[in-house]
Amino acid sequence: MLFMSRVSEALIRVEGLHKEFRLGLMRRRVLAVRGVSFAVERGDIFGFLGPNGAGKTTTIKMLTGLIAPTGGTATIFGARVPSPEAMKRVGFLPENPYIYPYLTPTEFVELCARLSGLSSRAARDRTRTVLDQVGVLYAADRPVRKLSKGMLQRTGLAAALVADPELLILDEPMSGLDPVGRKDVRDLIVEERRRGRTIFFSTHILSDVETLCDRVTILRRGQVVVSGRLEELLKRDVRRTDLVLEHVDAALEQAFVAAGHAVRRLGERLVVEAEGEAAVKFVLERSLAAGAALVEATPRSETLEDLFVREAIVTPDA
Ligand SMILES: Nc1ncnc2c1ncn2[C@@H]1O[C@H](COP(=O)(O)OP(=O)(O)OP(=O)(O)O)[C@@H](O)[C@H]1O
Ligand SMILES: [Mg+2]
Repeated sequence: MLFMSRVSEALIRVEGLHKEFRLGLMRRRVLAVRGVSFAVERGDIFGFLGPNGAGKTTTIKMLTGLIAPTGGTATIFGARVPSPEAMKRVGFLPENPYIYPYLTPTEFVELCARLSGLSSRAARDRTRTVLDQVGVLYAADRPVRKLSKGMLQRTGLAAALVADPELLILDEPMSGLDPVGRKDVRDLIVEERRRGRTIFFSTHILSDVETLCDRVTILRRGQVVVSGRLEELLKRDVRRTDLVLEHVDAALEQAFVAAGHAVRRLGERLVVEAEGEAAVKFVLERSLAAGAALVEATPRSETLEDLFVREAIVTPDA
């Protein structure tokens, strides 16, 4: 009998991953990653977030086989890490890509292509293509030590792309890039996904995640605090409406504050944050009765920044 079951297509599966470092003479324990689990499905653009020191790079290093986990498991393409076989299908951009300073971008990217098993002809052709794709072709023959930070980052990205990998693992691909450079990288990620590729990347730029990602995982102090589809995580239902009013006298402003609404002055105008429908009705009725006028009403839904600040920022007493 033939079963037509939908096999889970997780390209990366992380289960209860742990990493403990030992620091200094006293071998002080640093728990960098504490039981992290998530899965990246084929075709996802997956954002990996968290404040500085949350454990993103440590997790990525374990995935790519640079360091060994001290607990838990991780698989890439179904193979337990470290897996040189699986890594042949992965393009990796490390956090601070080291590029031999005396090579040119062409030489460096071609070297990466050759190490990935491309023939010398294919390596040459692909190198030109990807350097063009990341916008470094004009500087392709300058020594790397004469390139700017952003150009280095782009060269590292070209090296990750050169073997046309099925899965891209990028540790802060937008770091060091100007706004145009960031847009280029966003476009490149979208284009790679359109071509059927899967992209897993860490970043601090929440607006990029909001426009790009299908799924996110947020770490805090080595643990997952938020994980899921972005559209499900961000509450789409509008909870708050910002009402901008004119001609609000002190008595009316006081009435809003007394009713528990947050208010702020915007020049001559007053902004009242109304939570829920009943609050909007109350503010509007009171305003009209007191001779104030409504200038603008803006519904506010939760942003990724709201979610990040709520869940990922470590307060001193946390
Ligand atoms: N080799 C190491 N030895 C000891 N501690 C380490 C080592 N590498 C990382 N750590 C510690 O592990 C924790 C997680 O670091 P990691 O680099 O994974 O954070 P991150 O989320 O990538 O942060 P960032 O956003 O700043 O890149 C930090 O407390 C860091 O100091
Ligand atoms: Mg990092």
